[in-house]
Amino acid sequence: MKAAAARAAELRRLIERANDAYYVLDKPELSDAEYDRLFRELQELEAKHPELQTPDSPTHRVGAPPAAAFKKHRHLVPMLSLANAFNEKELAEWEERNARLSPEVKTAGYTLEVKIDGAAVSLTYQDGVFVTGATRGNGIEGEDVTANLRTVLDVPLRLHGQRKTWPKLMEVRGEVYLSKSRFAELNTERERAGEPTFANPRNAAAGALRQLDPKITRSRGLRIFCFHVEAPGQKLPVATQHDLLLQLATWGFPVEPHHKLVPDLAAANREIASTLEPLLDQLDYGADGVVVKVNPLELHAELGTVGDREPRWAIARKFAPEVRITKLKEIRINVGRTGALNPYAVLEPVEIGGVTVSTATLHNFALIKAKDIREGDLVEVTRAGEVIPQVLGPVIKKGVRRSRPYQPPERCPVCKSKVEHPQGEVMAYCPNVSCPGRVFESIVHFASRPAMDIRGLGPERVKALLDAGLIKDVADLYEITPMQLLTLEGFAEKSARQLVDAIQASKDRPLATLIFALGIRHVGAQGAKLLARHFGTMKALAKASVEQINEIRGIGPAIAEAVAGFFAEPKNRKLVERLEKLGLNMKEPVAAEGKGPLAGHLYVITGTLPSLSRAKAAELIEAAGGHVSDAVSKKTTAVVVGADAGSKLEKAKTLRIPLIDEAELLRRARAKP
Ligand code: IVH
Repeated sequence: MKAAAARAAELRRLIERANDAYYVLDKPELSDAEYDRLFRELQELEAKHPELQTPDSPTHRVGAPPAAAFKKHRHLVPMLSLANAFNEKELAEWEERNARLSPEVKTAGYTLEVKIDGAAVSLTYQDGVFVTGATRGNGIEGEDVTANLRTVLDVPLRLHGQRKTWPKLMEVRGEVYLSKSRFAELNTERERAGEPTFANPRNAAAGALRQLDPKITRSRGLRIFCFHVEAPGQKLPVATQHDLLLQLATWGFPVEPHHKLVPDLAAANREIASTLEPLLDQLDYGADGVVVKVNPLELHAELGTVGDREPRWAIARKFAPEVRITKLKEIRINVGRTGALNPYAVLEPVEIGGVTVSTATLHNFALIKAKDIREGDLVEVTRAGEVIPQVLGPVIKKGVRRSRPYQPPERCPVCKSKVEHPQGEVMAYCPNVSCPGRVFESIVHFASRPAMDIRGLGPERVKALLDAGLIKDVADLYEITPMQLLTLEGFAEKSARQLVDAIQASKDRPLATLIFALGIRHVGAQGAKLLARHFGTMKALAKASVEQINEIRGIGPAIAEAVAGFFAEPKNRKLVERLEKLGLNMKEPVAAEGKGPLAGHLYVITGTLPSLSRAKAAELIEAAGGHVSDAVSKKTTAVVVGADAGSKLEKAKTLRIPLIDEAELLRRARAKP
């Protein structure tokens, strides 16, 4: 009993932590399968030992508290979650439980729907007009994100169809999602901009929905599918779930098209196995199961809900991510733009979830070592939804001889430079900026929109230029002539001229842009701005020592090391000198440095401010001559604290950094210097 109590406490801690990572930080730590396993273990423990139940157990609530930045919205009817069934047996047990309450369920028919993996929302319509849109929040109360939902083009602002079919007041429930293709596009854009990428489409969708600036939400390209209506005290014009889906479509809501009506559970199982399960991976949106719903709405009312948590009339049929065993033929390494060595496995091709997989990521050398993955091993490989295939670990059979433990290379597999292992980092790096493996990725980055913004120079053209031997590094770009381009496929006189013009035009970009475009490790757009402002010229930056760089407010030791390391490499120095000779701008336009009321001060913003978005607050500080950093350090002048502040606030308290609010920031920014 003591052991059970300890385990329950442990499970609660793990689940709460995972909930926070998932809902609050938008950075999931556990796979869905792992999370589900923990959750079910806790449910089972609590069922077996009811005395272990606590009122605040995560099994009693759904989702996360609303962020304080949005107005709260109390749902007319609580927004529920769904219980899971991982196999046909669990589905049958669900039916049996229901049949004890309403024997008709066995012959009443079931509606099958694709379970969309996005962010749950509730759309309120009053007399046919969209009035409020809210997130689920804790199920009882969510966040009012009406302005953001209005930007989702799929959401009808007015109902279609006959007025007499509209309930006077109703909440339409649906799932907001990001298509897989849009997700991939967004992540490419973010990677180029040096911004952190999203872990998966669901988190990207949830994040987009909770933006304080609806323009950002709009730019992300969210979509929605709807599947449920709550209209308390009113009569709906339909009597079954299946007809409700058709009615929703008539009212103008997008309804996932693969729904099916089946007569009983046997037919449901057949339909799921033959059609729906294989379909899920093929869709351009995340789908994490099939929802089985009792068809007559009358029975929904009769069966009711379990607490405020789950309806009895619906269940999510889930599928454990497929894991296959295959032979790991070889461990290879891809060299990224920053020189990061990315190990991956070349596999004996194997089909996982309808897709043939022949390579899978191995993440980093530390992981290969920890799991002792060796060439020639049989390995478990998985491909969960949209995630790139990954090797889980070796399958070791007794008596089978294995090859030697994998040795990470000491030299870059492409250019043979000595590999670097920066302290405290799991990744290993090739330090050579001219390494051909890095060159391709770095030229693509150099030309990308957030960097030098050379229109018409995307990855394909970069590859063509490299293959034709017209360029070896970014400096060569500036010597390309239209005549040379005409020898390549896909160029005509006009397009050749245009590309050369675009390349030449990029010479005038600000120094900060050029520093960012060089692709120095850890130096994002913001860091590049600080460096350019502080040093004023590329020459001064190239000469600076680690200590001098580290002194800049907003620049930490990792960036300082990386920048000094970059300029210590003779090849990099030569490249920069050539760029200067070719006429690229190497000076920062005279900055507001030293002027403005906040000159010389470094601010950190944490939490949600009452009126300013984080970007706007940063802009305000910079316009007043100050700097903004992401991390609290001894150099921080003050931390601007908003609602729901997290670890940065704690750190500021530990370091005794002054805390100010938005009003104080505005006052300081407007003060006379
Ligand atoms: S029915 C009372 N149907 O999955 C309505 N949910 O894990 C209960 N979801 O909260 C939900 N597709 O956000 C239902 N076709 C579908 C769904 C669906 C996605 C989401 C929904 C729900 C969550 C439960």
